[in-house]
Amino acid sequence: ETARITLHPELTIGAVDPRLYGSFIEHLGRAVYGGIYEPDHPAADEEGFRTDVLELVQELNVPIVRYPGGNFVSGYNWEDGVGPKEERPRRLELAWRTIETNQFGTNEFMAWCRKAHTEPMLAVNLGSRGLDAARNLVEYCNHPAGTYWSDLRRRHGYPEPHKVKVWCLGNEMDGPWQIGHKTADEYGRLAVETAKVMKWVDPTIELVACGSSNRKMPTYPQWEATVLEHTYEHVEYLSLHTYYGNRNGNTANFLAKSLDMDRFIAEVAGICDYVQAKKRSKKKLYLSFDEWNVWYHSNAADRQLEPWQIAPPQLEDIYTFEDALLVGCMLITLLKHADRVKIACLAQLVNVIAPIMTANGGPAWRQTIYYPFYHAARYGHGQALHLAPGSPVYHDDEFDAVPYLEAVATYDEAGEVLTVFAVNRHLEEPLPLVGDARHFAGYRVVEHITLTHPDLKATNTRECPDRVVPQANGNATLQEGRLEALLPAASWNVIRLA
Ligand code: AHR
Repeated sequence: ETARITLHPELTIGAVDPRLYGSFIEHLGRAVYGGIYEPDHPAADEEGFRTDVLELVQELNVPIVRYPGGNFVSGYNWEDGVGPKEERPRRLELAWRTIETNQFGTNEFMAWCRKAHTEPMLAVNLGSRGLDAARNLVEYCNHPAGTYWSDLRRRHGYPEPHKVKVWCLGNEMDGPWQIGHKTADEYGRLAVETAKVMKWVDPTIELVACGSSNRKMPTYPQWEATVLEHTYEHVEYLSLHTYYGNRNGNTANFLAKSLDMDRFIAEVAGICDYVQAKKRSKKKLYLSFDEWNVWYHSNAADRQLEPWQIAPPQLEDIYTFEDALLVGCMLITLLKHADRVKIACLAQLVNVIAPIMTANGGPAWRQTIYYPFYHAARYGHGQALHLAPGSPVYHDDEFDAVPYLEAVATYDEAGEVLTVFAVNRHLEEPLPLVGDARHFAGYRVVEHITLTHPDLKATNTRECPDRVVPQANGNATLQEGRLEALLPAASWNVIRLA
Protein backbone atom coordinates (compact mmCIF):
# COMPACT_ATOMS: atom_id res chain seq x y z
CA GLU A 1 0.00 0.00 0.00
CA THR A 2 1.12 3.52 -0.82
CA ALA A 3 1.18 6.56 1.46
CA ARG A 4 0.09 9.87 -0.06
CA ILE A 5 0.81 13.49 0.75
CA THR A 6 -0.10 16.84 -0.78
CA LEU A 7 2.44 19.63 -0.94
CA HIS A 8 0.82 23.03 -1.32
CA PRO A 9 2.49 26.33 -0.35
CA GLU A 10 -0.76 27.69 1.05
CA LEU A 11 -1.55 24.69 3.27
CA THR A 12 0.33 26.36 6.10
CA ILE A 13 0.21 25.38 9.77
CA GLY A 14 2.22 28.36 10.95
CA ALA A 15 5.69 29.87 10.91
CA VAL A 16 8.31 27.70 12.57
CA ASP A 17 9.80 29.56 15.52
CA PRO A 18 13.53 28.72 15.47
CA ARG A 19 13.31 28.20 19.23
CA LEU A 20 11.50 24.92 18.47
CA TYR A 21 15.01 23.46 18.27
CA GLY A 22 16.08 24.44 21.76
CA SER A 23 17.78 22.19 24.30
CA PHE A 24 18.53 21.99 28.00
CA ILE A 25 21.51 21.90 30.35
CA GLU A 26 20.82 21.03 33.98
CA HIS A 27 23.22 20.80 36.92
CA LEU A 28 22.82 17.06 36.86
CA GLY A 29 25.28 14.21 36.35
CA ARG A 30 27.95 15.13 33.82
CA ALA A 31 25.95 17.67 31.81
CA VAL A 32 27.91 20.64 33.18
CA TYR A 33 30.97 19.09 34.86
CA GLY A 34 32.68 16.78 32.35
CA GLY A 35 30.19 17.83 29.67
CA ILE A 36 30.28 21.48 28.66
CA TYR A 37 32.80 22.46 31.38
CA GLU A 38 35.99 20.52 32.13
CA PRO A 39 38.93 22.85 32.85
CA ASP A 40 41.46 19.98 32.91
CA HIS A 41 40.43 18.62 29.54
CA PRO A 42 43.04 18.97 26.74
CA ALA A 43 40.40 20.68 24.57
CA ALA A 44 39.28 23.14 27.28
CA ASP A 45 39.56 26.85 26.51
CA GLU A 46 40.67 29.56 28.94
CA GLU A 47 37.24 29.54 30.62
CA GLY A 48 37.24 25.77 31.06
CA PHE A 49 34.70 25.10 28.30
CA ARG A 50 35.29 22.00 26.19
CA THR A 51 35.82 23.25 22.65
CA ASP A 52 35.08 19.82 21.16
CA VAL A 53 31.62 19.97 22.78
CA LEU A 54 31.15 23.59 21.72
CA GLU A 55 31.81 22.56 18.12
CA LEU A 56 29.16 19.83 18.26
CA VAL A 57 26.64 22.19 19.89
CA GLN A 58 27.30 24.76 17.16
CA GLU A 59 26.90 22.07 14.52
CA LEU A 60 23.57 21.07 16.08
CA ASN A 61 22.35 24.65 15.64
CA VAL A 62 20.61 25.01 19.00
CA PRO A 63 19.04 28.49 19.25
CA ILE A 64 18.11 28.46 22.97
CA VAL A 65 19.25 26.43 25.99
CA ARG A 66 17.25 26.11 29.21
CA TYR A 67 19.30 26.25 32.46
CA PRO A 68 20.01 25.39 35.35
CA GLY A 69 17.15 22.89 35.82
CA GLY A 70 15.05 20.83 35.93
CA ASN A 71 14.56 19.47 39.39
CA PHE A 72 17.89 21.02 40.39
CA VAL A 73 16.55 24.56 40.18
CA SER A 74 13.97 23.95 42.91
CA GLY A 75 16.73 23.83 45.55
CA TYR A 76 19.21 26.21 43.93
CA ASN A 77 20.57 29.40 45.49
CA TRP A 78 21.72 31.25 42.40
CA GLU A 79 23.95 33.48 44.55
CA ASP A 80 26.11 30.38 45.29
CA GLY A 81 27.16 30.25 41.64
CA VAL A 82 28.42 33.83 41.10
CA GLY A 83 31.52 35.69 42.25
CA PRO A 84 35.01 34.37 42.97
CA LYS A 85 35.09 30.61 42.40
CA GLU A 86 37.18 29.90 45.48
CA GLU A 87 34.49 31.43 47.69
CA ARG A 88 31.59 29.46 46.25
CA PRO A 89 30.02 26.95 48.65
CA ARG A 90 29.74 23.22 48.13
CA ARG A 91 26.19 22.12 48.83
CA LEU A 92 24.22 18.96 49.20
CA GLU A 93 22.09 18.83 46.06
CA LEU A 94 18.85 17.22 47.12
CA ALA A 95 17.11 16.72 43.77
CA TRP A 96 19.74 14.28 42.48
CA ARG A 97 21.54 13.48 45.76
CA THR A 98 24.97 14.71 44.74
CA ILE A 99 27.41 17.42 45.84
CA GLU A 100 27.24 20.66 43.87
CA THR A 101 30.56 22.55 43.81
CA ASN A 102 29.13 25.70 42.18
CA GLN A 103 32.26 26.09 40.07
CA PHE A 104 29.93 26.79 37.16
CA GLY A 105 27.07 29.27 37.57
CA THR A 106 24.97 31.91 35.85
CA ASN A 107 27.82 34.03 34.44
CA GLU A 108 29.72 31.01 33.16
CA PHE A 109 26.54 29.83 31.47
CA MET A 110 26.09 33.20 29.77
CA ALA A 111 29.69 33.12 28.54
CA TRP A 112 29.22 29.55 27.32
CA CYS A 113 26.00 30.50 25.46
CA ARG A 114 27.82 33.20 23.54
CA LYS A 115 30.49 30.74 22.48
CA ALA A 116 27.90 28.11 21.59
CA HIS A 117 25.96 30.67 19.48
CA THR A 118 22.83 30.18 21.51
CA GLU A 119 20.48 32.15 23.79
CA PRO A 120 19.89 31.41 27.47
CA MET A 121 16.48 30.46 28.90
CA LEU A 122 16.74 30.72 32.68
CA ALA A 123 14.55 29.00 35.25
CA VAL A 124 13.97 30.55 38.69
CA ASN A 125 13.59 28.57 41.90
CA LEU A 126 9.94 28.47 43.00
CA GLY A 127 10.49 25.36 45.15
CA SER A 128 12.66 26.29 48.13
CA ARG A 129 12.63 30.01 47.29
CA GLY A 130 10.36 32.53 45.62
CA LEU A 131 9.64 36.03 44.50
CA ASP A 132 12.57 37.81 46.11
CA ALA A 133 15.35 35.53 44.82
CA ALA A 134 13.71 35.60 41.38
CA ARG A 135 13.44 39.36 41.05
CA ASN A 136 17.01 39.75 42.34
CA LEU A 137 18.26 37.36 39.69
CA VAL A 138 16.50 39.33 36.95
CA GLU A 139 18.08 42.51 38.32
CA TYR A 140 21.50 40.82 38.49
CA CYS A 141 21.25 39.56 34.90
CA ASN A 142 19.31 42.24 33.06
CA HIS A 143 19.58 45.61 34.82
CA PRO A 144 22.35 47.74 33.26
CA ALA A 145 23.95 49.29 36.37
CA GLY A 146 23.53 51.50 39.41
CA THR A 147 21.74 49.09 41.78
CA TYR A 148 22.99 46.54 44.29
CA TRP A 149 22.52 43.43 42.15
CA SER A 150 23.48 44.93 38.79
CA ASP A 151 26.62 46.46 40.28
CA LEU A 152 27.47 43.12 41.84
CA ARG A 153 27.34 41.56 38.38
CA ARG A 154 29.68 44.28 37.14
CA ARG A 155 32.06 43.65 40.02
CA HIS A 156 31.98 39.98 39.08
CA GLY A 157 33.44 40.89 35.71
CA TYR A 158 30.34 41.28 33.53
CA PRO A 159 29.86 45.00 32.77
CA GLU A 160 27.13 44.42 30.17
CA PRO A 161 23.70 43.07 31.15
CA HIS A 162 23.05 39.51 29.97
CA LYS A 163 19.64 40.47 28.56
CA VAL A 164 18.01 37.13 29.27
CA LYS A 165 14.70 37.18 27.42
CA VAL A 166 12.90 33.95 28.36
CA TRP A 167 12.38 32.81 31.96
CA CYS A 168 10.69 29.73 33.42
CA LEU A 169 8.65 30.22 36.59
CA GLY A 170 9.95 27.14 38.40
CA ASN A 171 10.04 23.54 37.21
CA GLU A 172 7.50 20.68 37.36
CA MET A 173 5.81 22.14 40.42
CA ASP A 174 3.01 19.55 40.11
CA GLY A 175 5.41 16.69 40.89
CA PRO A 176 5.63 15.25 44.44
CA TRP A 177 9.36 14.61 43.73
CA GLN A 178 9.94 18.35 43.35
CA ILE A 179 11.63 20.28 46.18
CA GLY A 180 8.81 22.54 47.35
CA HIS A 181 6.04 20.73 45.41
CA LYS A 182 2.83 22.77 45.41
CA THR A 183 -0.86 22.45 44.67
CA ALA A 184 -2.04 24.20 41.50
CA ASP A 185 -3.51 27.07 43.55
CA GLU A 186 -0.38 27.46 45.67
CA TYR A 187 1.83 27.45 42.58
CA GLY A 188 -0.52 29.68 40.57
CA ARG A 189 -0.51 32.35 43.28
CA LEU A 190 3.26 32.25 43.71
CA ALA A 191 3.84 32.23 39.94
CA VAL A 192 1.66 35.27 39.26
CA GLU A 193 3.17 37.34 42.07
CA THR A 194 6.69 36.38 40.94
CA ALA A 195 5.82 37.13 37.31
CA LYS A 196 4.60 40.59 38.23
CA VAL A 197 7.78 41.67 40.00
CA MET A 198 10.12 40.03 37.46
CA LYS A 199 8.41 42.08 34.75
CA TRP A 200 8.53 45.21 36.88
CA VAL A 201 12.31 44.76 36.97
CA ASP A 202 12.46 44.10 33.21
CA PRO A 203 9.24 44.53 31.18
CA THR A 204 10.84 43.05 28.04
CA ILE A 205 11.10 39.49 29.39
CA GLU A 206 8.85 36.56 28.45
CA LEU A 207 7.64 34.06 31.04
CA VAL A 208 6.78 30.36 31.00
CA ALA A 209 4.39 28.97 33.62
CA CYS A 210 4.66 25.32 34.66
CA GLY A 211 2.18 22.95 33.11
CA SER A 212 2.06 19.26 34.05
CA SER A 213 5.14 17.04 34.20
CA ASN A 214 3.46 14.65 31.79
CA ARG A 215 0.03 13.70 30.52
CA LYS A 216 -0.35 10.87 33.05
CA MET A 217 -0.08 13.08 36.14
CA PRO A 218 -3.19 12.63 38.34
CA THR A 219 -3.63 16.42 38.51
CA TYR A 220 -3.59 16.77 34.70
CA PRO A 221 -5.43 18.66 33.10
CA GLN A 222 -7.01 20.55 36.00
CA TRP A 223 -3.50 21.72 36.96
CA GLU A 224 -3.23 23.69 33.70
CA ALA A 225 -6.67 25.27 34.06
CA THR A 226 -6.07 26.33 37.67
CA VAL A 227 -2.56 27.65 37.06
CA LEU A 228 -3.77 29.67 34.08
CA GLU A 229 -6.72 31.07 36.05
CA HIS A 230 -4.07 32.74 38.21
CA THR A 231 -1.38 33.55 35.67
CA TYR A 232 -3.03 33.96 32.25
CA GLU A 233 -2.47 37.69 31.77
CA HIS A 234 1.07 37.60 33.20
CA VAL A 235 2.79 34.86 31.21
CA GLU A 236 3.41 34.17 27.51
CA TYR A 237 3.81 30.38 27.54
CA LEU A 238 2.69 27.27 29.39
CA SER A 239 5.17 24.40 29.64
CA LEU A 240 4.75 20.74 28.65
CA HIS A 241 7.14 17.90 29.44
CA THR A 242 7.19 14.29 28.27
CA TYR A 243 9.56 11.33 28.08
CA TYR A 244 8.92 7.94 26.50
CA GLY A 245 10.56 4.54 26.77
CA ASN A 246 10.33 1.11 25.19
CA ARG A 247 10.16 -0.71 28.51
CA ASN A 248 8.17 -3.70 27.22
CA GLY A 249 10.27 -4.26 24.14
CA ASN A 250 7.30 -3.38 21.93
CA THR A 251 8.82 -1.22 19.20
CA ALA A 252 5.60 -0.79 17.19
CA ASN A 253 3.96 0.70 20.28
CA PHE A 254 7.07 2.73 21.17
CA LEU A 255 7.19 4.37 17.74
CA ALA A 256 3.55 5.37 18.14
CA LYS A 257 4.24 7.32 21.37
CA SER A 258 4.46 10.56 19.41
CA LEU A 259 0.67 10.24 19.01
CA ASP A 260 0.45 10.73 22.79
CA MET A 261 2.59 13.86 22.44
CA ASP A 262 0.30 15.07 19.66
CA ARG A 263 -2.80 14.61 21.88
CA PHE A 264 -1.04 16.28 24.80
CA ILE A 265 -0.31 19.41 22.74
CA ALA A 266 -3.84 19.56 21.34
CA GLU A 267 -5.36 19.16 24.82
CA VAL A 268 -3.16 21.80 26.47
CA ALA A 269 -3.85 24.23 23.62
CA GLY A 270 -7.55 23.60 24.26
CA ILE A 271 -7.16 24.41 27.96
CA CYS A 272 -5.34 27.66 27.12
CA ASP A 273 -8.22 28.62 24.82
CA TYR A 274 -10.79 27.68 27.48
CA VAL A 275 -9.14 30.01 30.01
CA GLN A 276 -8.84 32.71 27.36
CA ALA A 277 -12.60 32.45 26.76
CA LYS A 278 -13.35 32.47 30.47
CA LYS A 279 -11.27 35.58 30.98
CA ARG A 280 -12.68 37.31 27.89
CA SER A 281 -9.05 37.91 27.03
CA LYS A 282 -7.63 39.06 23.73
CA LYS A 283 -4.37 37.38 24.51
CA LYS A 284 -3.44 34.01 23.03
CA LEU A 285 -1.17 31.77 25.07
CA TYR A 286 1.61 29.78 23.41
CA LEU A 287 3.28 26.54 24.44
CA SER A 288 6.82 25.80 25.53
CA PHE A 289 7.53 22.06 25.23
CA ASP A 290 10.64 22.55 27.29
CA GLU A 291 11.46 18.93 28.13
CA TRP A 292 11.01 16.10 25.66
CA ASN A 293 12.97 12.99 24.73
CA VAL A 294 13.34 9.25 25.13
CA TRP A 295 14.42 8.40 28.71
CA TYR A 296 14.50 4.92 30.23
CA HIS A 297 17.76 3.10 29.42
CA SER A 298 19.59 4.51 32.47
CA ASN A 299 16.79 4.15 35.06
CA ALA A 300 18.09 0.92 36.62
CA ALA A 301 21.71 2.12 36.85
CA ASP A 302 20.61 5.38 38.45
CA ARG A 303 18.77 3.52 41.19
CA GLN A 304 22.10 1.89 42.20
CA LEU A 305 24.04 5.15 42.47
CA GLU A 306 25.90 6.03 45.69
CA PRO A 307 24.69 9.43 46.94
CA TRP A 308 26.79 12.55 47.49
CA GLN A 309 29.28 12.18 44.66
CA ILE A 310 30.44 15.10 42.54
CA ALA A 311 29.15 14.92 38.95
CA PRO A 312 28.69 11.14 38.74
CA PRO A 313 27.28 9.61 35.55
CA GLN A 314 23.50 10.00 35.84
CA LEU A 315 20.72 9.61 33.28
CA GLU A 316 23.31 8.48 30.72
CA ASP A 317 20.99 6.83 28.25
CA ILE A 318 22.85 5.19 25.39
CA TYR A 319 20.43 5.70 22.54
CA THR A 320 19.52 3.07 20.00
CA PHE A 321 18.56 3.44 16.38
CA GLU A 322 14.85 2.99 17.22
CA ASP A 323 15.12 5.86 19.72
CA ALA A 324 16.24 8.09 16.83
CA LEU A 325 13.09 7.10 14.94
CA LEU A 326 10.84 8.14 17.83
CA VAL A 327 12.80 11.39 18.27
CA GLY A 328 12.16 11.99 14.55
CA CYS A 329 8.42 11.37 15.06
CA MET A 330 8.43 13.76 18.03
CA LEU A 331 10.15 16.47 15.98
CA ILE A 332 7.55 16.03 13.25
CA THR A 333 4.83 16.30 15.90
CA LEU A 334 6.27 19.58 17.21
CA LEU A 335 6.36 20.94 13.65
CA LYS A 336 2.74 19.87 13.11
CA HIS A 337 1.90 22.21 16.00
CA ALA A 338 4.17 25.06 14.91
CA ASP A 339 1.25 27.47 15.21
CA ARG A 340 1.09 26.86 18.96
CA VAL A 341 4.43 25.49 20.15
CA LYS A 342 6.92 28.34 19.96
CA ILE A 343 9.67 26.93 22.19
CA ALA A 344 10.77 23.34 22.66
CA CYS A 345 13.81 21.93 24.45
CA LEU A 346 15.25 18.51 23.75
CA ALA A 347 16.13 17.29 27.25
CA GLN A 348 18.99 17.37 27.48
CA LEU A 349 22.10 18.40 25.48
CA VAL A 350 25.27 16.74 26.81
CA ASN A 351 25.71 13.37 28.63
CA VAL A 352 22.38 13.51 30.51
CA ILE A 353 19.73 11.93 28.20
CA ALA A 354 21.59 13.72 25.46
CA PRO A 355 22.42 13.77 21.75
CA ILE A 356 26.08 14.54 22.61
CA MET A 357 28.19 12.23 24.80
CA THR A 358 31.64 12.77 26.25
CA ALA A 359 34.24 10.81 28.18
CA ASN A 360 35.90 12.72 31.00
CA GLY A 361 39.31 13.65 29.63
CA GLY A 362 38.39 11.85 26.39
CA PRO A 363 36.45 12.40 23.18
CA ALA A 364 32.95 13.67 22.42
CA TRP A 365 30.62 11.91 19.98
CA ARG A 366 27.12 11.99 18.49
CA GLN A 367 24.42 9.61 19.71
CA THR A 368 21.81 8.22 17.29
CA ILE A 369 19.22 10.84 18.28
CA TYR A 370 21.62 13.60 17.28
CA TYR A 371 20.80 13.15 13.61
CA PRO A 372 17.05 13.75 13.30
CA PHE A 373 17.47 16.77 15.57
CA TYR A 374 20.36 18.05 13.48
CA HIS A 375 18.34 17.71 10.27
CA ALA A 376 15.25 19.41 11.68
CA ALA A 377 17.24 22.27 13.25
CA ARG A 378 19.14 22.76 10.02
CA TYR A 379 16.42 22.39 7.41
CA GLY A 380 13.09 22.78 9.24
CA HIS A 381 12.52 26.51 8.78
CA GLY A 382 9.93 28.78 7.21
CA GLN A 383 6.29 27.71 7.22
CA ALA A 384 5.27 24.29 8.47
CA LEU A 385 2.93 22.70 5.89
CA HIS A 386 -0.02 20.37 6.40
CA LEU A 387 0.46 17.38 4.13
CA ALA A 388 -3.06 15.95 4.38
CA PRO A 389 -1.45 12.52 4.53
CA GLY A 390 -3.15 9.27 3.73
CA SER A 391 -1.30 6.27 5.07
CA PRO A 392 -1.87 2.59 5.65
CA VAL A 393 -2.16 1.88 9.37
CA TYR A 394 -1.36 -0.83 11.91
CA HIS A 395 -3.23 -1.73 15.05
CA ASP A 396 -1.85 -0.96 18.50
CA ASP A 397 -3.71 -1.63 21.74
CA GLU A 398 -2.84 1.78 23.19
CA PHE A 399 -3.31 3.92 20.09
CA ASP A 400 -5.72 1.87 17.92
CA ALA A 401 -4.89 2.81 14.30
CA VAL A 402 -1.31 4.01 13.88
CA PRO A 403 -0.26 5.38 10.47
CA TYR A 404 2.96 3.89 9.13
CA LEU A 405 3.80 7.31 7.75
CA GLU A 406 4.59 10.21 10.09
CA ALA A 407 5.36 13.32 8.05
CA VAL A 408 5.41 17.08 7.81
CA ALA A 409 7.08 19.62 5.50
CA THR A 410 8.59 23.05 5.92
CA TYR A 411 8.62 25.65 3.18
CA ASP A 412 11.06 28.50 3.16
CA GLU A 413 9.47 30.79 0.59
CA ALA A 414 12.32 33.31 0.53
CA GLY A 415 14.94 30.65 -0.11
CA GLU A 416 12.58 28.59 -2.30
CA VAL A 417 13.37 25.45 -0.34
CA LEU A 418 10.90 22.75 0.60
CA THR A 419 11.82 19.97 3.00
CA VAL A 420 9.77 16.85 3.73
CA PHE A 421 10.48 15.06 7.02
CA ALA A 422 9.10 11.53 7.11
CA VAL A 423 9.34 8.40 9.26
CA ASN A 424 8.28 4.98 8.05
CA ARG A 425 7.14 3.14 11.19
CA HIS A 426 6.91 -0.18 9.38
CA LEU A 427 9.62 -2.39 10.85
CA GLU A 428 9.88 -4.85 7.96
CA GLU A 429 8.69 -3.22 4.78
CA PRO A 430 9.53 -0.12 2.78
CA LEU A 431 6.69 2.35 2.33
CA PRO A 432 6.03 3.78 -1.14
CA LEU A 433 5.34 7.51 -0.85
CA VAL A 434 3.61 9.58 -3.52
CA GLY A 435 3.30 13.34 -3.22
CA ASP A 436 1.21 15.77 -5.21
CA ALA A 437 3.69 18.62 -5.72
CA ARG A 438 2.04 20.38 -8.68
CA HIS A 439 2.34 23.73 -6.92
CA PHE A 440 6.07 23.46 -6.77
CA ALA A 441 6.71 23.59 -10.50
CA GLY A 442 10.38 23.76 -11.38
CA TYR A 443 11.55 22.23 -8.10
CA ARG A 444 13.94 19.30 -8.13
CA VAL A 445 15.18 16.84 -5.52
CA VAL A 446 18.35 18.24 -3.94
CA GLU A 447 18.87 15.18 -1.78
CA HIS A 448 17.01 12.43 -0.02
CA ILE A 449 18.76 11.68 3.26
CA THR A 450 17.89 8.51 5.16
CA LEU A 451 18.76 7.18 8.61
CA THR A 452 18.34 3.41 8.65
CA HIS A 453 19.96 0.42 10.32
CA PRO A 454 19.29 -3.33 10.16
CA ASP A 455 19.51 -3.50 13.97
CA LEU A 456 16.89 -1.45 15.83
CA LYS A 457 19.08 -1.64 18.93
CA ALA A 458 22.27 -0.34 17.26
CA THR A 459 24.06 2.42 19.20
CA ASN A 460 26.89 4.90 18.68
CA THR A 461 29.58 4.46 21.32
CA ARG A 462 33.01 5.84 22.14
CA GLU A 463 34.61 2.83 20.40
CA CYS A 464 32.24 2.92 17.46
CA PRO A 465 30.76 6.43 17.16
CA ASP A 466 29.59 6.10 13.54
CA ARG A 467 27.55 2.91 13.58
CA VAL A 468 24.30 4.82 13.00
CA VAL A 469 24.80 7.77 10.64
CA PRO A 470 22.63 9.32 7.93
CA GLN A 471 23.31 8.83 4.26
CA ALA A 472 22.20 10.73 1.16
CA ASN A 473 21.09 7.48 -0.48
CA GLY A 474 17.30 7.83 -0.75
CA ASN A 475 15.59 7.39 -4.12
CA ALA A 476 13.14 10.34 -4.16
CA THR A 477 12.28 11.75 -7.58
CA LEU A 478 10.17 14.72 -8.62
CA GLN A 479 8.76 14.70 -12.13
CA GLU A 480 5.91 16.71 -13.53
CA GLY A 481 4.65 17.62 -10.10
CA ARG A 482 4.75 14.08 -8.75
CA LEU A 483 7.05 13.24 -5.88
CA GLU A 484 7.89 9.57 -5.51
CA ALA A 485 10.05 7.87 -2.94
CA LEU A 486 10.45 4.50 -1.31
CA LEU A 487 10.91 5.05 2.41
CA PRO A 488 13.05 2.17 3.71
CA ALA A 489 11.64 -0.03 6.48
CA ALA A 490 12.09 1.65 9.88
CA SER A 491 13.60 4.87 8.55
CA TRP A 492 13.94 8.62 9.10
CA ASN A 493 13.90 10.56 5.83
CA VAL A 494 14.67 14.13 4.83
CA ILE A 495 13.69 14.97 1.26
CA ARG A 496 15.02 18.34 0.27
CA LEU A 497 13.48 20.05 -2.74
CA ALA A 498 14.48 23.38 -4.31
O1 AHR B 1 15.49 16.13 32.44
C1 AHR B 1 15.56 15.36 33.59
C2 AHR B 1 14.51 15.70 34.62
O2 AHR B 1 13.24 15.37 34.12
C3 AHR B 1 14.36 17.15 34.97
O3 AHR B 1 15.23 17.55 35.97
C4 AHR B 1 12.95 17.26 35.46
O4 AHR B 1 12.39 18.52 35.21
C5 AHR B 1 12.23 16.14 34.73
O5 AHR B 1 11.50 15.36 35.60
